[in-house]
Order: sequence, then structure tokens, then C-alpha cells
Amino acid sequence: MQISPSILACDFANLERELKRIANADWAHVDVMDAHFVPNLTLGLPVVEALARVSPIPLDCHLMIDDPDRWAPLYAEAGASSVTFHVEAARDPISLARSLRSLGARAGMALKPGTAFGPYIDLLPELDMVLLMTVEPGFGGQSFMADQMSKVREVREAVARCGGEIWVQVDGGVSTTTIQACAEAGADVFVAGSAVFGAETAAAAVDQLRDLATRHSALGLRGTQRVRGPQRG
Ligand code: DX5
Ligand code: ZN
Repeated sequence: MQISPSILACDFANLERELKRIANADWAHVDVMDAHFVPNLTLGLPVVEALARVSPIPLDCHLMIDDPDRWAPLYAEAGASSVTFHVEAARDPISLARSLRSLGARAGMALKPGTAFGPYIDLLPELDMVLLMTVEPGFGGQSFMADQMSKVREVREAVARCGGEIWVQVDGGVSTTTIQACAEAGADVFVAGSAVFGAETAAAAVDQLRDLATRHSALGLRGTQRVRGPQRG
């Protein structure tokens, strides 16, 4: 169970200090938006390069941008340990995922709430993570879409059939009140922006979220999949 706080909700005037507040998290989730793929503009390569130099934890870059085939590999080169592109924007997701892996990054594929997973199931062996949006991408602080949990279950079941270690990330509106549903549905990486940086003590919020996710996880020990059915242990 991994927590990836979204720095979209942090103080942009003090990025290095803000990263230190979440040093106990597994990843720092960096939302890159280009004002084309989504109607918002955040930060790009020079800022990611700078973050990679000072971050105590690895960077999990979520690219909400057009033409990821061209740009995503540059984020791996800039020092992101995980690079996630939106499949709606990618021309050749297989080549893109291969190129990210060849650069030493984990390759992630993101789906908007309205994008079905079925057509992309054959891509799983090329991927290290599937990111399922639980809000419309573009802004932090939106309400969690509980109707996406069936897609989380669908992806978790496909990952179990595929084998290998493919993470299932949820992103948007994840908080102490919504993380349980995500964990029960089979997510294992949880992005939380406002729930972490809006808390008085960000590190305590990270620990609390991880604890809740662990207690409600659909994944048993040693990779045993337990997507449906009663709690064990
Ligand atoms: C939305 C971003 C999310 C967002 C999460 O487009 O991809 O990562 O910042 O923020 P919260 O947790 O506040 O919904
Ligand atoms: Zn994100």
C-alpha cells in the first residue's frame, strides 16, 4: 500500500520545504498539465528536474498533456522514477511505455473517468501501473467519484490474470473517508492532494491514509488477490 501525495495542493512558493513534509510518503505525485489536454496549466520539465534534485522520495509524474509520445520520455530523463501518460492522448502507447522503461522509469497508463479499460487490456504486460482517475483531471480538491470503483475492480482482476507486478493507482478526491472503498476495490497506490497538504501535519495524514488502505486492502499477503468477499486478517 503506497501513498503518493499530490504536490498540486502544496505551497508552490516552497516546493523543497513541502517535499520534506511528506518524506514518509512512498512517492511525490507531480501533476503536469498543459492547458490543452486539461483546462489548467501547472508545471513542466524544468520544475520536475529541480524537484528531482531535492526530493527525498521518488517522483511519480502524472502527465495530463497532449502528445505524450514526444514529451513523456523527457520526464523520465529529467529524473522521474514513474511516468504516467494518458492513453486518450497517446498515439502509440506500447512504444511509449517501452521507451519509458528503457530509460529506467516505471511506465504508467492513465484513464479518465469516462474511458473504458477494456480496449487497453492487452497493454498490461507493457505497463508497471494503471492510474484510474476518480475525478475529471484538471483540478485538485474535487469530489471523489465512487462510481469508478467498478473500473478499479475490473483492472485489479485483469492485473491478477496477467500476472507480474502492475500497480493500480487511484487519483482524485482520495481522503480518509474515500480511501477504504478504493482499497477494497483493489487499488494499491493512492494519490491524495488536499487530504495530505490540507492536513495540519502532512506526514501524519500520510501515515493515517496508509494505515486505512492497509486495513481495507483487497490484496492479501504475498500477492494473494482478494478483490471480493469478506476481510481476512
Ligand atoms: C487532478 C490531479 C490529481 C489531484 C488530486 O487532475 O491529477 O492528482 O491533484 O488532488 P485531490 O486529492 O485534492 O483531489
Ligand atoms: Zn494526478
